[in-house]
Amino acid sequence: MMNKLSFKIGMLFFVFIVLVEVLLFFVLYTNLANNQVDEVMDNLLARGNTHRDVLEDNYSRSTMDHVRIMEAASDFVVVITDTQGQVLVKSNPIEYEIEQVIQRVIQAPIDSKGEIVEKRWKDKKYIASDSLIVIDNEIKGHVLMFAKTNKVKNMLDQLSYQFKIIGLLTLILTIITIFILSKLITAPLKRIKEASEQIYNENKQIDLNTKRKDELGVLARTITRISKDLDQLKAERTEFLSNISHELRTPLTYIKGYADVLNRPDLSGKDTRKYSLIIKEEAEQLSLLVKNLFDLAKVDQNKFDINKEWVSLCEIIQSVTERMRPAFNEKQLTIDTKCPADLIALVDPSRLQQVLINVLDNAKKHSYENSVITLKVKEDLQHINIIVDDEGEGIPKEEIPYLFNRLYRVEKSRSRLSGGSGIGLTIAKEIVESHGGVIHIDSEIGVGTTVTIALKKGEISE
Ligand SMILES: Nc1ncnc2c1ncn2[C@@H]1O[C@H](COP(=O)(O)OP(=O)(O)OP(=O)(O)O)[C@@H](O)[C@H]1O
Ligand SMILES: [Mg+2]
Repeated sequence: MMNKLSFKIGMLFFVFIVLVEVLLFFVLYTNLANNQVDEVMDNLLARGNTHRDVLEDNYSRSTMDHVRIMEAASDFVVVITDTQGQVLVKSNPIEYEIEQVIQRVIQAPIDSKGEIVEKRWKDKKYIASDSLIVIDNEIKGHVLMFAKTNKVKNMLDQLSYQFKIIGLLTLILTIITIFILSKLITAPLKRIKEASEQIYNENKQIDLNTKRKDELGVLARTITRISKDLDQLKAERTEFLSNISHELRTPLTYIKGYADVLNRPDLSGKDTRKYSLIIKEEAEQLSLLVKNLFDLAKVDQNKFDINKEWVSLCEIIQSVTERMRPAFNEKQLTIDTKCPADLIALVDPSRLQQVLINVLDNAKKHSYENSVITLKVKEDLQHINIIVDDEGEGIPKEEIPYLFNRLYRVEKSRSRLSGGSGIGLTIAKEIVESHGGVIHIDSEIGVGTTVTIALKKGEISE
């Protein structure tokens, strides 16, 4: 309970409100009380002084009676004494506290003609003022005025009562807030927490379907997505590993088989050469595969560095076609290149070569003998397009979307003749995309295949 988020937020809310309330109460209470008390005191003294003034003008029994009658009807008490403290007139019976004040002013007379002589409104029943009656420079007596303090006290009691009510309301509100918060925040958070634990511990795919549009909704959807991705990744990894082991096993089986054949004593010199050549080819294939796998691993770790420089595209194309010519000749393929001689681009030359070799190697593998492969570079406003066309067997439409998947091959049987491992295009795509470009394939069965590499001119321009 104490560790619950809703409780913590609720408590925070509560503490803040109580703090604000206490502060407010303190300021209001003292201000109100002081104002009220000041007003009562001013009023009291003014009344006393007025009576005194009248008495100074006409110091007689009847004037005193007059004052007494006036105050008998009011909330105040008036007592008129002589200099000895003898009560001459009183509007109410003399209570103990009033008597005490009279004694005090007689024993310790005030310095001025009138002032407040009892201010302690919190402890006393009355506050009091004293006005001296002075006639011909001689003190004749005192007009003592008293006002009850219970009015002020009542008002302040009322105030603190109201603040207590507000305090109580705050408490109730806090409890409601904690309750709502725990429903609104903690419950979904708890679900998310449990779900993430499930992903972590049981590797389970979870679905936190929620329609919430706030941060919690986003969090829930993100976690759901992560769990799906994780699941897919796991499936892909398993498939990838089984594909890889298959890829590795095939050439190894050949190598082992032909090595066994080579051991046969009755083998002719011609066969020996033939089989050792096959072994060599398989071993080359294997090392190419390992190299490609290594590249793939780098792609996955984003360690695939691209070092761009300004180079002539035609020179790159030239060097690639030169390198591949012997392989093309083997199949009597013609390679036809068209490229604007002055075109330079900001690319990584060796990576771009890698792409072109992959694409041309595919074209070669899937072309019929004596056909033509065209490689042309075309510019438009925004792109430099490198287009490789072959007149080969083509690719079924439904296979095209998967060509760039790792280890994907159209002819699933692993014939040694066309035998690639299905990594070439994956790496090509990765390289082209890290140059900010796109690669795509169009193909028609029996007509041929077109691979287009479109590099954006913005970054890779002349
Ligand atoms: N020009 C093409 N004509 C017909 N099929 C093609 C062509 N290019 C690619 N393919 C098909 O796409 C698949 C994937 O190509 P990719 O280059 O990725 O792998 P691969 O050539 O089989 O192996 P690797 O390039 O790794 O040695 C190929 O196996 C092939 O079936
Ligand atoms: Mg290939």
